[in-house]
Amino acid sequence: MQFSKYGQTFSKPSSISQLMDDLGDALHSETPVNLLGGGNPARIDQVNAAYFEVYQSLAAEGIDGNAIAAMGNYSNPQGDMPFITTLVEFFNRHYDWQLTAANIALTNGSQNAFFYLFNLFSGSFAHHKTTDAQAEVASNRTVVKSILLPLAPEYIGYSDVQIEGKHFIAIEPTIATVTHDGEAGFFKYTIDFAALENLAALKNGEIGAICCSRPTNPTGNVLTDAEMAHLARIAKQYAIPLIIDNAYGEPFPNIIYPKVTLNWDDNTILCFSLSKIGLPGLRTGIVIAAPEVIAAIAAMNAVVNLAPTRFGAAIAAPLLADDRLQELCDDTIQPFYASKAKKAVALIKAELGDYPVLIHKPEGAIFLWIWFKNLPISTTELYERLKQKATLIVPSEHFYPGLDTTTYPHAHECIRMSIAASDETLAAGIKVIGAVVRALYEV
Ligand SMILES: Cc1ncc(COP(=O)(O)O)c(C=O)c1O
Repeated sequence: MQFSKYGQTFSKPSSISQLMDDLGDALHSETPVNLLGGGNPARIDQVNAAYFEVYQSLAAEGIDGNAIAAMGNYSNPQGDMPFITTLVEFFNRHYDWQLTAANIALTNGSQNAFFYLFNLFSGSFAHHKTTDAQAEVASNRTVVKSILLPLAPEYIGYSDVQIEGKHFIAIEPTIATVTHDGEAGFFKYTIDFAALENLAALKNGEIGAICCSRPTNPTGNVLTDAEMAHLARIAKQYAIPLIIDNAYGEPFPNIIYPKVTLNWDDNTILCFSLSKIGLPGLRTGIVIAAPEVIAAIAAMNAVVNLAPTRFGAAIAAPLLADDRLQELCDDTIQPFYASKAKKAVALIKAELGDYPVLIHKPEGAIFLWIWFKNLPISTTELYERLKQKATLIVPSEHFYPGLDTTTYPHAHECIRMSIAASDETLAAGIKVIGAVVRALYEV
């Protein structure tokens, strides 16, 4: 059978499909696997109990209740309107953003939102020139625009979503060694603004949007308020949107430790997800943006999905309406991951503290990013060796959409390790990593 160019691009193995396959295989494996690779959130009983309670109360409403109504009818393409109304009230209660329903669209997970947004803001554009009358007119020339990722590494899931081929430009970070909780052995990435502002593609109108995850998957880095303000200024200067991927940020799931501010204005596109609060199977993404962007997302939803799924909305709406979700995030989810990060750091230090191994300062998300300086093999090879010992991590090279990793050795020296596993699995997995890495440094 012959597939179109588009079909071939989307069906060939991609970074994300290989990772999901390995994870799926590991979940169904008969022998235990130390699963430190995936992006699944942890199972937190207290949080699941709250979801179960809503689920039961929906069931108790019987066949005339909201759950059956949500399952039995499509929403409009923008998404379940009662949930959108709840979200508008929630965000206006906690932030002074003065949103209306025209500022919010729902998607089938935020991955779905990134598919839309990156295809809206990158790829071929009609070239616009300004006439004497200051009216914008399109010429026959097309301009190919990219998504600018201001700090590599970035989320693996962005890499393959563009239907016209990969159009990303990423900037190598500035790396500084730092202390964490008073201890050495850590580093932190910051944005190299000199390189970013010198970028020819930015000056030539070949950037369609700037995007960053905050906290960042894979590193757990949190861009500072000053970095975010600087990015917002650049985005405005070049009349392009700033997309902020808030999958791990505040207010939900709030897996973020530094006290930073979340801002929104109509040049900002904020993406949220219900996945990392523990509901990835419900595939619910939330986009907050200017009405023009929301209308485009609704139109794309209509074509791709008819309408987004409504069950996540049914579960989350009552918990957002009375701020129970906020309490769960602040009092349970955030401390849970903070404690996991602490345990994982202690275990790595115990295994590899005497080796040239640095951990990115854990500032949020559900991963540690570990840098094996001058490791004699690439971390892709390390991944294979660890897999043979039933331990899964993700090697760093997949996290550099928009950067040529062949000329950037650092991109082959790190791994992403999930901290969402049980304490036993974390300890067993880190023991294996310790033994394999020590042997490599000792040859
Ligand atoms: C940074 C980031 N963005 C987006 C997503 C997509 O999440 P979902 O489609 O489940 O909302 C993930 C999932 O791991 C992520 O880590």
